[in-house]
Amino acid sequence: MNNLKVLESVIEILKREFANESTGHDWFHIERVWKMAKFIAQKEGGDLFVVELAALLHDIADHKFVDDADEVAEIRIRKILSDLKVDEVIIQKVNHIVSRCSFKGNAEENKMDVLEGLIIQDADRLDAIGAIGIARTFAFGGKFGNLLYHPDIKPTKFSSAKEYRDKRTHTINHFYEKLLLLKDLMNTETGKKLALDRHVFMEKFLNQFYDEWNAKSELSLESE
Ligand code: ADP
Ligand code: NI
Repeated sequence: MNNLKVLESVIEILKREFANESTGHDWFHIERVWKMAKFIAQKEGGDLFVVELAALLHDIADHKFVDDADEVAEIRIRKILSDLKVDEVIIQKVNHIVSRCSFKGNAEENKMDVLEGLIIQDADRLDAIGAIGIARTFAFGGKFGNLLYHPDIKPTKFSSAKEYRDKRTHTINHFYEKLLLLKDLMNTETGKKLALDRHVFMEKFLNQFYDEWNAKSELSLESE
């Protein structure tokens, strides 16, 4: 099977499986990460087939919802790609990347050590910030019944991936626990550039959110 056919088949499998996912990891998240990874790879290099496959498969098992996600992902990726007769070397590269992709609370050092993986991590992180990042984060919070915000509950600096996974507070905290950290964790020059606008947009969003929360506009009208 040629590379294009393999990609088409993988896309078909993922579209079917992730169509109705509602925690921000739906097919459209996968599609955005795939497209962004291709764009970054055009600027930064890397084996495009590996970039595309690993981008498409990066969320096949999520460590927040599956206990042994790394193992589950590896088995599923091997099954999908070997059914499509993909080379063993490529399967190993994709698995290597996917197992190192996730954020996991910034508690652990980034283990990504290949260009294609650094690109996918950037593409995934870009989708976690900016307007879409904000929307995904509130969708996730809603799904888990979390408050939008609670002024007395402060953000946590996580000491382990497990703590990151298990701790549920209000959604505004997630900005400080992850989203606002991502701009400085981008790997590639292209990723760093693309992160800037999205970061600034989140800062603006938060400022407006606190202003509305604290009734700033009513106060300014009152003093007129
Ligand atoms: P990665 O995809 O790098 O593993 P996560 O799975 O931790 O990162 O998070 C993916 C997205 O899910 C986040 O960018 C965010 O939108 C949402 N999310 C994860 N944890 C939380 C949380 N505690 N509160 C709100 N949103 C969250
Ligand atoms: Ni993702």
